[in-house]
Amino acid sequence: QRHIVRLLSCPGTVAEDLRRDEQPSGSVETGFEDKIPRKRFSEMQNERREQAQRTVLIHCPEKISENKFLKYLSQHGPINNHFFYESFGLYAVVEFCRKESVGSLQNGTQTPNMAMETAIPFRSRFLSLKLKNQTSKQSCIQSSNQLPPSNRKLFELLCYAESIDDQLNTLLKEFQLTEENTKLRYLTCSLIEDIAAAYFPDCVVRPFGSSVNTFGKLGCDLDMFLDLDETRNLSTHKTSGNFLMEFQKILSVIGECLDHFGPGCVGVQKILNARCPLVRFSHQASGFQCDLTTNNKIALTSSELLYIYGALDSRVRALVFGIRCWARAHSLTSSIPGAWITNFSLTMMVIFFLQRRSPPILPTLDSLKTLADAEDKCIIEGNNCTFVHDLNRIKPSGNTETLELLLKEFFEYFGNFGREQNKPDSSPLYIQNPFETSLNISKNVSQSQLQKFVDLAQESAWILQQEDAHRPSVSSNQPWGLAAVLLPSVPNRGSLTKKKRKRSANERVKNLLESLKSNRTANFTETNEK
Ligand code: CTP
Ligand code: MG
Repeated sequence: QRHIVRLLSCPGTVAEDLRRDEQPSGSVETGFEDKIPRKRFSEMQNERREQAQRTVLIHCPEKISENKFLKYLSQHGPINNHFFYESFGLYAVVEFCRKESVGSLQNGTQTPNMAMETAIPFRSRFLSLKLKNQTSKQSCIQSSNQLPPSNRKLFELLCYAESIDDQLNTLLKEFQLTEENTKLRYLTCSLIEDIAAAYFPDCVVRPFGSSVNTFGKLGCDLDMFLDLDETRNLSTHKTSGNFLMEFQKILSVIGECLDHFGPGCVGVQKILNARCPLVRFSHQASGFQCDLTTNNKIALTSSELLYIYGALDSRVRALVFGIRCWARAHSLTSSIPGAWITNFSLTMMVIFFLQRRSPPILPTLDSLKTLADAEDKCIIEGNNCTFVHDLNRIKPSGNTETLELLLKEFFEYFGNFGREQNKPDSSPLYIQNPFETSLNISKNVSQSQLQKFVDLAQESAWILQQEDAHRPSVSSNQPWGLAAVLLPSVPNRGSLTKKKRKRSANERVKNLLESLKSNRTANFTETNEK
């Protein structure tokens, strides 16, 4: 069996896509159009980074008067915005209008003891507020939610939706990173950068991966990239052969530093022997599980590519979120590394699928390369990473297929996957890394995990076909459409024939319906990321 996914080119679609010059005949209305970012990735990253540098993180006492708190902080300058959230205590994220206000606040406060006792020359923007005279009034502070919806809530929302399109858009709205969560991610990187800068002045810590590529679900990890290029020109050493050791040493130093002096950094693990060495830790105050790497510019570039794909058409993210939740619900993905498919691979599969629609919903990477100008040219470690960065230069798709159709066809496509092309190696699933084209991003996936994916895709396609016949009337609390395919499967499906499988799926759905009717929605598997 041959399973291969390549974003570069699909014969016949590239030229077609580029030649089309009429205006889009009407993108599907979802109500989310206004949220689609049209900014360049670098522009968005720079703005967020600058915003984070004007921001402080404050651990607050449980009982606090919001007004007094803001009045106190305003002494240091006007506040642009703020929010509170809970993560083993109450925290406030406060963004000043001016960067100087942060310095002024730091001058007037005591930094946490740990940092004070050390010789590391950094002043943290992670502060702790102690009240001199406790306010007796009960605080009624509104906390911003940083977690995905409970399964119960999601289930209810999906059941009351009006169509499968509506369900997918609802799921997207519930799971996508909020403005506050995104701010907190950039702030966390910025706080880590302060620490790293004690050793590597002018280094930059940038978020990459799902935190920034528009495909992140609430609760997803925070991938950080320590960019040293601005300080010392490491890229010149890269050909010397010793660069891997150099990066390992750098990460080792940062790991030690975070472990001993990083405010709120716990469980620091150095994973230096991996292909891409990293330091993993949990940032307690923000609640994020963080992976810090260096020498990972290509991953930042692939995050930008995904950002572009996510911004081009409102259906892309809705479908990716649907598939990610589906995979999580059926334990096709896991927070533990192993032989399973990753979210990154799943996203590539959806993009690949959308490139192959007729007319295509997404352009191929080759066509994005063709649209690039001199400014877009980019070679990283000998890999051609050139593609257009200006979103406005990419023509929207004229394809008007509904999300419902796309979801069904996705399952059908991958349920019958693997009868086609030649794979470069013997891995069960081959998903070509878009920029390091000799790398397979799903090399880890075992034959049995792939089979599980294909079987579940078939089964879900079948469930959705049956759905057509009995979609319940509005206001039903029965799982239908997306809710039905998110339900857990029975084990040992693998040995059943297709017909039997269909029958057993049918029975399973019936049983689940029964159990759900009797209010046992707990059967709905864990879809939360971590
Ligand atoms: N990456 C890669 N090749 C891989 C794995 C990861 O290039 N085999 C890059 C991708 O740019 C990916 C990023 O590293 O987006 C972060 O990887 P990971 O955290 O595994 O994936 P995310 O896309 O962040 O998804 P998740 O929400 O599951 O964290
Ligand atoms: Mg990630």
